Amino acid sequence: MNNVDLSLSRESISDGLETRIVGLNVLYYPSLTSTMDIARAVVHEGCAEGTVVVAGQQTAGRGRLKREWLTPEGNIALSVILYPASAQLPAMIMLASLAVANSIESVTGIKPGIKWPNDILINLRKVSGILIETDARPHRYGHAMYVVIGIGINVNLRPFEYAGIETTATSLSIETRQSVSRLALIRSLLGEMDRLYNELNQGRSLFELWRHRLITIGRTVTVTTVESVYTGIAESVDRDGALYVRCQDGELKKIIAGDVTLR
Ligand code: BTN
Repeated sequence: MNNVDLSLSRESISDGLETRIVGLNVLYYPSLTSTMDIARAVVHEGCAEGTVVVAGQQTAGRGRLKREWLTPEGNIALSVILYPASAQLPAMIMLASLAVANSIESVTGIKPGIKWPNDILINLRKVSGILIETDARPHRYGHAMYVVIGIGINVNLRPFEYAGIETTATSLSIETRQSVSRLALIRSLLGEMDRLYNELNQGRSLFELWRHRLITIGRTVTVTTVESVYTGIAESVDRDGALYVRCQDGELKKIIAGDVTLR
């Protein structure tokens, strides 16, 4: 493990990074509101695919379901801009969660699990969250889609200092009992995202890799969706990323999007 947290900068992140798409253009801000907002703005300026927006800290980080995402200094907050074919959109969740899990494993030696669809857990506590936003590119760049993959990783967060996440969140420094280099992890993460994106572009599927990393299957879960709340056994996942839950009344429910609590 690399214990030296060299300071983050555009150069330290991108120098010698041997990627083909992800990270070819790195924008670094010591502090900003949310990397998602800056990423959207640079898409509208016509940025290259693979542009990455990295923040030293965020003052208005946001999570899924309109929740707040804490990013005090010492953690990782970044957004990666991709222009995938529309058939690849469901795979973006798989790409992002696999890349985070693989890079955490390679830098710390700890093997995290994925809670459907894309929370990264260690010892059943959340260490990383992923927010994916997608929209049409501005007309002058053609009508293809863009995807912003926002990734937050708790590196040095001390969850017990924040009300509401004391028992549900963790961080890499807590789990490893050592300091973990944000720089090493960001570089590893960009390398993994690039490798997996190239796999997709060569027509290979990430589904089996993602399915094998899921810790949700076989467990009793409560799933909150926009329409309802379901409790049952998480039976399987579909190639499109959806979760199948066998509800208590015996019905098999296909969940496209929602938030899972493990029971
Ligand atoms: C979640 O689990 O709810 C998703 C959290 C996503 C947080 C990341 S941090 C980088 C990017 N910028 C944001 O404001 N949010 C995402």
